Amino acid sequence: MKYRTIGTDPKTRREVSVLALGTHHFGTRTGEATSFAILDRYVAAGGTFIDTADSYAFWADGGQGGQSEDLLGRWRRSRGVDGEVVIATKLGARPLAPGTSFTDNAEGLSAGVIREASERSRDRLGVSRLDLLYAHIEDPAVPLAETVAAFAALVAEGTVGLLGVSNHWAWRVERARCLAAAAGLPGYEVLQYQYSYLRPRTDLPGERSPDGMPGMLGGDLLSYLRDEPRLTGVAYSPLMKGGYVNRDRLDAPEFAEFGHPGTPARLAALRDVAKDAGATVNQVVLAWMIGGQVPIIPLVGASSVAQLDESLAAVDLELTAEQRARLDEAG
Ligand SMILES: NC(=O)c1ccc[n+]([C@@H]2O[C@H](COP(=O)([O-])OP(=O)(O)OC[C@H]3O[C@@H](n4cnc5c(N)ncnc54)[C@H](OP(=O)(O)O)[C@@H]3O)[C@@H](O)[C@H]2O)c1
Repeated sequence: MKYRTIGTDPKTRREVSVLALGTHHFGTRTGEATSFAILDRYVAAGGTFIDTADSYAFWADGGQGGQSEDLLGRWRRSRGVDGEVVIATKLGARPLAPGTSFTDNAEGLSAGVIREASERSRDRLGVSRLDLLYAHIEDPAVPLAETVAAFAALVAEGTVGLLGVSNHWAWRVERARCLAAAAGLPGYEVLQYQYSYLRPRTDLPGERSPDGMPGMLGGDLLSYLRDEPRLTGVAYSPLMKGGYVNRDRLDAPEFAEFGHPGTPARLAALRDVAKDAGATVNQVVLAWMIGGQVPIIPLVGASSVAQLDESLAAVDLELTAEQRARLDEAG
């Protein structure tokens, strides 16, 4: 395994593995025994960066989520896992009532929600401090200053270590960080967005914004990460939810934005480099991301230990400069 540092303050910054593990189906679609086996394997391989959210997986049973955090709490207790693994969670997108969703009825980012939801996450995970807490989605109804102050208060009292943000427009991330800096408060340092090797179209309206998809890592955020190396980029759905090995998934309506004119050329380049490197296409995507000019931490999902093993092996795959150029120039 390889490691890098997230955060800057010596009191809260952490060393984490360059490959993170997502758990959004754990405790629902992925049963307890398999989830525990995947978590055990990840930690045995040196993995130290696990991701969840208070809303996972509300869509699985029409509830409000919490199953993934609950499962992680049981796993932590049964294995005696404590401070050696960073467990990141998120708040803001949990539906306020069963049968609703983050698109129409999200808990949001008011000071009250931030306090109460973070307490519930600590209870479910069985920890006194959340290592990394993200704002999961934007809440345009709450002043940014309120959200910024509420997150900072949790850091000040020691119930949260690092702060992160997901699915926000780049300008709102920067504005929130400026508000925090001006007030002498800790701001978002970890940015979690959807990102993979395929380029998305940016001209389609999104589920939550007529202007596009704020959850997609594009040029604005990449240039921000390049310019601010103290920030960390984390990529969700790096394997396109299995789309690189299952074409039907790539063609599903949820991936409409990957109907980009460059997609066929990029898929061909991937296959070509994978053959050349003696690796799988998934491994090439992960190695490309981990070792890129702007290194990003891939946050992979897995529903079996074998899938995780394939992803773990990508950490040791070094692409040559020529292979990297072939990938970068395609499409
Ligand atoms: N911030 C956000 O809004 C947000 C949004 C989405 C996700 N996330 C986080 O990101 C994590 C990962 O997201 P994701 O699951 O979409 O990521 P992903 O890594 O792109 O997809 C994981 C899925 O790909 C398939 N897969 C993985 N390895 C494979 C292999 N070797 N061969 C064939 N198929 C393979 C599996 O699908 P099957 O299980 O069907 O086999 C697996 O469940 C989540 O758990 C969550 O923590 C965050």
